[in-house]
Amino acid sequence: MQETNDLNAPEKFPLFDLSAWSARQLAAIEQALSGWVASPADTPALAGLGDAMRYAVLDGGKRLRPLLVMAACEAVGGNQQAALRAACAVELIHAYSLVHDDMPCMDNDVLRRGKPTVHVRFGEAQALLAGDALQALAFELLTPDDESVTPLIQAQLCRLLAQAAGFQGMAGGQAIDLASVGLPLTSTQLHEMHRLKTGTLLQASVMMGAACGSASCDALKALHDYGAAIGLAFQVVDDILDVTADAATLGKTAGKDAAQDKPTFVSLMGLQPSMAYAQQLLAQALSSLEASRLDNTLALRALADMLVNRQY
Ligand code: IPE
Ligand code: IPE
Ligand code: MG
Ligand code: MG
Ligand code: MG
Repeated sequence: MQETNDLNAPEKFPLFDLSAWSARQLAAIEQALSGWVASPADTPALAGLGDAMRYAVLDGGKRLRPLLVMAACEAVGGNQQAALRAACAVELIHAYSLVHDDMPCMDNDVLRRGKPTVHVRFGEAQALLAGDALQALAFELLTPDDESVTPLIQAQLCRLLAQAAGFQGMAGGQAIDLASVGLPLTSTQLHEMHRLKTGTLLQASVMMGAACGSASCDALKALHDYGAAIGLAFQVVDDILDVTADAATLGKTAGKDAAQDKPTFVSLMGLQPSMAYAQQLLAQALSSLEASRLDNTLALRALADMLVNRQY
């Protein structure tokens, strides 16, 4: 019998052109981000803060989280205007997390998205403030004062994003990450750290896309499981690439986890088992998608595959 999650089952899963689909989505996402992130021309009094914000967000990044929002919205036939706002909001939170992650008080990195990090280019105070302002802007985007997004969807999107970004999500996970330097974490502790610092925001991207439409409780539960699996897989792959890829490919410093004595899946399990684990999580994600019984999950399926098998 054929595996339900067999990636090579063309009769079951018609060919899907992820590049063409992503190009269409990214055109809209880039245009929206560029329009929404403070333009220096509009805000001359902000002492360069707008420049730092645009530098942090525009011209770079794989935009995986926005693509997940759009794909999940498509799967539930949701409001695309709401999804575009949600997609940009998640990316703003992500960009803010990177700005702060790179600061000397955290990972002390000088290269991000192929450019000097924000604090290197604009100074630490401006980097701190740019992160703060990007976070605030994310929630402003989710609450437009026109009729384009219903108040209920606005509230759900704010709640999902706030939970994923805060104490029970990215910020909490980052705190554990910093407190874990040099410590031999157990597998359970490492899973929890990765789930919080990275997994929650990827999972929230899926659930925010789903919140833009309507889906059964069972479908939402399945999307939640899909999001958990790809969220964890994403950070496992990030840990692997830190070891296997170079800075030119990654656009960020390579080999820094070992240099900074960070506990990672590679340090806990070794390289090959980590790669096998990422594939196992991909299989879990794909079987959750099938369990959702949603019709239009080809983009979510292709994104999961890309996210796990990416080279950067
Ligand atoms: C890097 O995320 C930081 C982590 C959460 C591991 P991405 O690999 O998505 O970074 P960009 O957005 O493509 O630069
Ligand atoms: C960062 O994890 C996760 C965030 C919440 C930003 P890493 O510290 O591993 O991310 P990179 O490798 O610097 O992109
Ligand atoms: Mg870090
Ligand atoms: Mg880092
Ligand atoms: Mg990393």
